[in-house]
Amino acid sequence: MNGHYAIAIDGPSGAGKSSLARACAKAFGFLYVDTGAIYRTVGLAAYRRGIDRKDETAVAAMLPEIRITMGYNAAGEQRMYLDEEDVSAEIRLPEISICASDVSALPAVRSYLLEMQRKLARENNVIMDGRDIGTVVLPEAELKIFLTASAEARAERRMLELNAKGVEAKFEDVLRDIRYRDEQDSNRDVAPLKPAGDSVLVDTTEIDFAASEALLRSIIREKLGVEEIA
Ligand code: DC
Repeated sequence: MNGHYAIAIDGPSGAGKSSLARACAKAFGFLYVDTGAIYRTVGLAAYRRGIDRKDETAVAAMLPEIRITMGYNAAGEQRMYLDEEDVSAEIRLPEISICASDVSALPAVRSYLLEMQRKLARENNVIMDGRDIGTVVLPEAELKIFLTASAEARAERRMLELNAKGVEAKFEDVLRDIRYRDEQDSNRDVAPLKPAGDSVLVDTTEIDFAASEALLRSIIREKLGVEEIA
């Protein structure tokens, strides 16, 4: 504890981490930090430069040449900037999801982003979502939640989300990408996706968004003893 509360939410892609974490952050007045967006920005940078995203030497050589920053707009939404350009929409494209998963397996990338994430938690009450927040980034977090759902349920939700944004996506393709990322994110050597020993497991396969949000809010109230502001 450093004078601020930290809530870590980890889990596989498409489990609803970001929407739920954002809603809970608003309810308690915490800062929401989507760490996947930071990895996505590194993935986009490598993609744009045509760098082999599995070549650690090449990706590591790129890191000092790019500038990644984040900010929040008036609506409180996190925005990502690559060399001052707002890339918040582009990093959501399906091909960039794969690039993000690829670069996130590289130790050089993970250590490069570690301090950026920890600094946010030192300076704010945060709800931070990712894959290794409870295990590596914020092992002292007051509350750790491992949020999961079946691959099919996650693919269905992700497909609807992409379609709603006007990005055409087929269920089979989204499911294949989710399985690729599950496999890679869970089996990499460094900071693999796994529940922290002291995390609370929440499976949303059978419950909708509203019920999942209510459940998380009650866990936060109970474990942290904090009141909702909204
Ligand atoms: O949460 P997301 O789908 O936006 O994350 C994109 C990729 O980044 C994901 O495949 C795994 C990686 N990632 C990670 O390794 N560690 C994090 N803390 C967050 C994301």
